Amino acid sequence: MDTKIKLLLVSIAIVCVNAISYQNYKVYNVVPKTKEDVTILKKLLDENKYFFWDYAIKVNYDVKIMVAPEKQDDFEKYAESVGINAKLVIEDVQSLIDAQLKRPSSRTQQEYNWDYYQTLDEIYDWLDKVAEEHSDVVTIIEIGRTVENRVIKGIKIDYKKQERPTIGFLKGGLHAREWITPATITWLINEFLNSEDTNVRNLAENVVWHIIPVANPDGYVYSFTSDRMWRKNRNRANFTSCAHLGLNDDMSNGIDLNRNFGYLWMTTGASQDPCTQTFAGPVAFSELESISIANYVLGLQRQGNLIYYLGFHSYSQLILVPYSHVGGADVLAAPNYGDLFEIAIKSAAKLTERYNTTYRVGTSADILYEVSGSGFDWAKGQANVPIVLLYEVRDLGQYGFLLPAEQIIPNSEEVLDSLVELDRVTRQIGYYQYQNSGQILNLSIFLLISTILFVM
Ligand SMILES: *[C@@H]1O[C@H](CO)[C@@H](O)[C@H](O)[C@H]1NC(C)=O
Ligand SMILES: *[C@@H]1O[C@H](CO)[C@@H](O)[C@H](O)[C@H]1NC(C)=O
Ligand SMILES: *[C@@H]1O[C@H](CO)[C@@H](O)[C@H](O)[C@H]1NC(C)=O
Ligand SMILES: [Zn+2]
Repeated sequence: MDTKIKLLLVSIAIVCVNAISYQNYKVYNVVPKTKEDVTILKKLLDENKYFFWDYAIKVNYDVKIMVAPEKQDDFEKYAESVGINAKLVIEDVQSLIDAQLKRPSSRTQQEYNWDYYQTLDEIYDWLDKVAEEHSDVVTIIEIGRTVENRVIKGIKIDYKKQERPTIGFLKGGLHAREWITPATITWLINEFLNSEDTNVRNLAENVVWHIIPVANPDGYVYSFTSDRMWRKNRNRANFTSCAHLGLNDDMSNGIDLNRNFGYLWMTTGASQDPCTQTFAGPVAFSELESISIANYVLGLQRQGNLIYYLGFHSYSQLILVPYSHVGGADVLAAPNYGDLFEIAIKSAAKLTERYNTTYRVGTSADILYEVSGSGFDWAKGQANVPIVLLYEVRDLGQYGFLLPAEQIIPNSEEVLDSLVELDRVTRQIGYYQYQNSGQILNLSIFLLISTILFVM
């Protein structure tokens, strides 16, 4: 078939399958002003009558609530009756989804670019093409398969081919609807390979990068074809009625991969109800995607000095530091919390320099909500990866998951700025030197102490 026709058909297929329509769904912004407001909103969240975009409910923080057209009256009356000011911020959710699904119309735009959101097939084809064009440094990696038998695919970028290299693991798309993360990560890959900026070249070449743009391919595809707001994977093992929450039973066809990892699994901020967005699965590591990621990361540790585990999510503009279940003085539970915090703060400050986008830094419990069973907490708590951080990228909720495609590049640029800084500070603190395990370090400390004693 002519590629042009094929392309056209693909475009039609993407927008015409029987996707859930969010036509006339509204989004309200609510800012709880008192503890009582927080209690009311938390109760409303638990009742599941409305679709919360945010699960962090705190005094003076925005909460976005999506409301079906037929529930609009109900919602507004309720908000008024409890004295909560709900401001209508999005009139029609579907129009934002349509804008995000917009395809390049002309033949000349067929080249992969970051003007629109790519489908899984487009991303995978592009990875193959990149691997072919840069075969001296790039290899395709396949870390596992999904329950719908899709490959979880990524690339490895290795410039120096060292025996025991410094390694970084970078992933996005663990949550299906967070489209900005695969888009950002493919943009980063492109920069790692083609940028002529010295700082970016150092970042790209000093570390062997293992990069997974879409860690949840089934969910990602489903968010294109069927439900734009899908978050979980597509494991149907726990299919059940969701009538008790007033939801379509399809809600039970998936597990929240970022609650499924085997570190403090199911202790806080996760659910055992398959109909919820945060269903953690029947047991820790019940899911192929989380097992694949964990095994891959452990494998990297055998290949060299794995210093980075960086996860990308959206939205909220945060750099989260492990552990997600601790706040206040307990943050020191992570052995190198001080270093991580310093690295994150400096990276966030650097990110702000380009477009004045502000990020907050802290543990999830402190600045978002308590969570357990997440991938990055596992990477710190079980795998002991030194530098583990989680980015929640743009925006602050103006568009949320429906971020316009025009923001892909600016978002990616500022993230890259912050990664350059992140790497600079990490190196400055000395994490590169942990290479080939602590024995060298121990030996050097021994020599240093001997020297000091000798001099004295
Ligand atoms: C989910 O499915 C698994 C596998 O079939 C089963 O062992 C488990 O009991 C189910 N759990 C829930 C909460 O439904
Ligand atoms: C940058 O953002 C901050 C807070 O978001 C705002 O107060 C400030 O005016 C902005 N500065 C510029 C130059 O836009
Ligand atoms: C470094 O030395 C300490 C104390 O002797 C020891 O507990 C630790 O295991 C050593 N680290 C490594 C990685 O060998
Ligand atoms: Zn997420």
